[in-house]
Amino acid sequence: MTKKLHVKTYGCQMNVYDSARMADVLAPLGYRLTDSVDDADLVILNTCHIREKAGEKVYSDLGRLRPLKAMRRAGGGDLLLAVAGCTAQAEGAEVVRRAPHVDIVVGPQAYHRLPELVARALRAADGAAGPGRGVVATDFPAEPKFDFLPQPTERQAVSVFLAVQEGCDKFCTFCVVPYTRGAEYSRPVRDVVAEAGRLAALGAREVTLLGQNVNAYHGAAPEGGEWGLGRLVRALAAEVPALGRIRYTTSHPRDMDEALIAAHRDVPQLMPFLHLPVQSGADRVLARMNRRHTADDFRRIVDRLRAARPDIALSSDFIVGYPGETDADFAATMALIVEIGFAQAFSFKYSPRPGTPAAVEPEQVPDAIRTERLAALQDLLRQQQDAFNAATVGRTVPVLFEKRGRHPGQLAGRTPWLQWLHASAPERLIGSTVDVVVEATGPNSLAGRLAIAQSADAAA
Ligand code: 5AD
Ligand code: SF4
Repeated sequence: MTKKLHVKTYGCQMNVYDSARMADVLAPLGYRLTDSVDDADLVILNTCHIREKAGEKVYSDLGRLRPLKAMRRAGGGDLLLAVAGCTAQAEGAEVVRRAPHVDIVVGPQAYHRLPELVARALRAADGAAGPGRGVVATDFPAEPKFDFLPQPTERQAVSVFLAVQEGCDKFCTFCVVPYTRGAEYSRPVRDVVAEAGRLAALGAREVTLLGQNVNAYHGAAPEGGEWGLGRLVRALAAEVPALGRIRYTTSHPRDMDEALIAAHRDVPQLMPFLHLPVQSGADRVLARMNRRHTADDFRRIVDRLRAARPDIALSSDFIVGYPGETDADFAATMALIVEIGFAQAFSFKYSPRPGTPAAVEPEQVPDAIRTERLAALQDLLRQQQDAFNAATVGRTVPVLFEKRGRHPGQLAGRTPWLQWLHASAPERLIGSTVDVVVEATGPNSLAGRLAIAQSADAAA
């Protein structure tokens, strides 16, 4: 019997990937995806725990789902509610205590057990005393879950994610990831190449290799030993030629090794855009964060990247108001941004997370100061992003078209530097990389025209 599954994804790209895998795992049970909660038999909230606001969001959404579930049950029906992702991992049974109508709590390392967990929850339905069944699975299994996840079989998007690494051993003092995602694990090279081949055969033309610490990748190599990310990228470029574009995220400056920088020089498929979080430009703060690199280390890495690939554009993450951050520390961060020049970036007010060392630091920065610093930093980053986008106007750039645009006859695609671009183009160009003359910048995307006009009815 067909049942409907609604998955809501919060947070990072790894969660987007995981949500798709959860849908794959549940497909053999007859669950098909639906966009709306109203006709869903099972709702999965795939949560994020990185900052307090993200961690709390799930509870307001669960509050909204409670009357829906009560109504279903009153009418003799049912609605299974599952909380997955990093909040599930971090809070475990506490989720059920705060939201007793939750049926399943499943951590990121237990997704492959979803069929069993759903069956258990359904079996518990009748005799269950509470409004939810409270099935909790947040253990870290001995066997990596990747070995149990089914392979993709359906047509893929033009641009897809592929998890190659998970977890983090770095223990930055502000971050919950080492606790929610566990120890670093790299998938074997052979599995990654095979999955990439399948994704390409199913229509993917761009792959983004994912990991919480993706450039710490050290997967088992086909002939023994281990390969780093640079070597993996070379193998993918050689063995899966249909993937015209390769990206990876998220990286740590300490793992930006020579082999990976050389791959940026030698592998044309590796896109000239890198998200490399630095968090702060002040050595004092970086040391307190346990980042184990200095602002100068970061500058040198950028120099080497730019020497290898002169058109590389940079993105980063910044935290303002880390405990003990002074005006001078903040000024050092602003100076680093001015010096490097970022094509885009994400920036956050420091948010104390329970269980992390920074949360119990005595010198918490008052919220008013954090707010003020964030505004100044975002202003600067916005100016840099606008300047970067404006600099592409008038240039001809290769765009990989991914989907229809907002207006009829229009397609949306990405430049090598991850900018969205809209252009009038025939639909058959979805999945193709085409030269586009950039004509204008808008708030969220560029606008352009095809360098060589294409008729709508020409054969593909
Ligand atoms: N407070 C604010 N930002 C955080 N990040 C991680 N933990 C916190 C926190 N406690 C940011 C970092 C990281 C990004 C994914 O989220 O900048 O790179
Ligand atoms: Fe968190 Fe630091 Fe690991 Fe990144 S490297 S996931 S910020 S602990």
